[in-house]
Amino acid sequence: MCIKKSGLLPIIAACLVCVTGVHASPVSVIPKPVKMQVNEGSFAFDAGTAVVSPSTLMSQAHLLSTQLARATGFGVPVKDAIEAGGRTIQLHLEESQRLGKEGYHLQVTPEQISIRAQTQAGIFYGCQTLKQLCDPGIYASQPLADRQWLIPCVDITDYPAYPWRGMMLDVSRYFLDKEFVLRYLDIMALHKLNVLQLHLNDDCGWRVEIKAYPELTTQGAFRGKGAERVGGFYSQEDVREMVRYAAQRNITIVPELELPAHALAALVAYPYLGCTGKAHEMPTKHFISKDLYCPGKDTTWTFLEGVFQEIITLFPSEYIHIGGDEASYDRWKECPDCLAKMKALGIEPGHEYELQGWMNLRMEKFMLAHHRRIIGWDEILKCGVTPQAAIMTWHRPETSVQGAKRGNGVVMALTGHCYFDTPESKLPGELPGAGWLAPITLEKAYDWEPRPEGLSDIEARNILGAQGCVWTDMFLHQPWLADVPVLGERRSELYVEYFSLPRMAALAEVVWTPRGQRHWEDFQLRMRRQYTRYTNSQFNFRVPVPKVMVRGPGSPWVVTVENPVEGGQVHYTVDGTFPTVYSPTYQGPVTVEARDAFRAMTAAADGKHRSLVYESTSGSTR
Ligand code: ACM
Ligand code: ZN
Repeated sequence: MCIKKSGLLPIIAACLVCVTGVHASPVSVIPKPVKMQVNEGSFAFDAGTAVVSPSTLMSQAHLLSTQLARATGFGVPVKDAIEAGGRTIQLHLEESQRLGKEGYHLQVTPEQISIRAQTQAGIFYGCQTLKQLCDPGIYASQPLADRQWLIPCVDITDYPAYPWRGMMLDVSRYFLDKEFVLRYLDIMALHKLNVLQLHLNDDCGWRVEIKAYPELTTQGAFRGKGAERVGGFYSQEDVREMVRYAAQRNITIVPELELPAHALAALVAYPYLGCTGKAHEMPTKHFISKDLYCPGKDTTWTFLEGVFQEIITLFPSEYIHIGGDEASYDRWKECPDCLAKMKALGIEPGHEYELQGWMNLRMEKFMLAHHRRIIGWDEILKCGVTPQAAIMTWHRPETSVQGAKRGNGVVMALTGHCYFDTPESKLPGELPGAGWLAPITLEKAYDWEPRPEGLSDIEARNILGAQGCVWTDMFLHQPWLADVPVLGERRSELYVEYFSLPRMAALAEVVWTPRGQRHWEDFQLRMRRQYTRYTNSQFNFRVPVPKVMVRGPGSPWVVTVENPVEGGQVHYTVDGTFPTVYSPTYQGPVTVEARDAFRAMTAAADGKHRSLVYESTSGSTR
């Protein structure tokens, strides 16, 4: 991250007045639990603590034990219920209407910790909360000898507001490999998110091995020549590993294969799939093609059904995403096969979207016959789908209202709150991102509600939840990373994490915690510790700029600062230079002669993760 140095200001004056600070509450859980009571005392987690579990929960018990053992250095043995006794962490499955499919009850007393749930998913979420009750060092990958592992006594009853709590990764425009996806699943698990949509094809890349159509990956997964050649794909064994890894963390991987548009990589591999039959090259820059699948040819259907047959064998998700966005019908309008198909279906020229609707219905029939349902971007609603399909709304919430009223499930992925490849601010030095949208600040990602207005309570049950999206159409192409050598780099992966964190935390709370219990100020306070969890987990994240309050007008002005990161420091200057970790550390209010003399930045606990610089002239403090 480079910080642009500009507009150096003259030294005015500064003096330290007194010490203030913001203190995180001792319990700081994200997303905020539905009901939580904090009691006196704590459970001392030590070398004698074991996890006790019935045989049905052994997979969760071992996952918890491994994670706790890594940072504490304790053995954390897993015992079966018969041996129960002593100071233990007990996992129980039990019937409870109140907790639902993903809820849990977590009780910590000085003698024992118990996590109860109806399902493995609930137990997993109870374990996530338990880790958040510990010192954030619990996320470290090495034993931390200097910590005391005191877990505060609590009584928590918790369950999510929405069943679809998703993130989307565009692995097509930039290939994010299996190792990265596994890491990203861990990031999602920390936030109790439960759907990862993989955008597996687009004009610039096809990313999943299909045995019946090998050219999809030999040709469609790579672009460029010689040393410039880049790309990659998931073998079917990779997919099985990712699906298994996700399932243990209660995450469903939803595959997305776009049709009829965003499909050029498939047409490069098999030109007969397009209307013209013409050969194409893989684009080496971001590109949205006008060449779509040709629905007028039977060979296209043989291909699509063959591909989706393998996809549903690989991915056990209830929903299969068929894309459906941004189709421009220029080729269909001139294709004899498409024109003949439209005539046979009674579709008027100019209503090509109805031909897309016919494709949707045909795909849906195929999926329903295989006990799956389709989901697609909101364009599919206009084109035509049955109420059994789900809609992913990226345009306006009104489409969601229309869908939910006719019975379609709806996932809100609104560009203004959920497109996380958009920058967080316009501050100098901010990571460049999708320029076609206004910045999505953390507050904007937090302060909204997936349930749109205008729905009855019964209709609102069709709002399945919300999803953050990380598009990568500008990665490694111009203009963002054009100057970056392509091969052997993890830079794009770090960018994906930076875009995702901390906005993923905001999304997590939007979809988990009831609207009435969500408060921006309280969220910011709890986030202070979340950043330390990110640091210890070695995730890349955007460090928040210090929150600066300038009181005046007057001479001098009094500047107070809230440090947004627990364990971090705020460094400041008053001489017009940009602060570094060697600049004075903020201890309390500072007085300055001119209000724009003050600049500050946050350094996280590791000193490596730093924020952009607060300048009063920048007009934004986020
Ligand atoms: C989209 O952003 N084209 C769904
Ligand atoms: Zn055609």
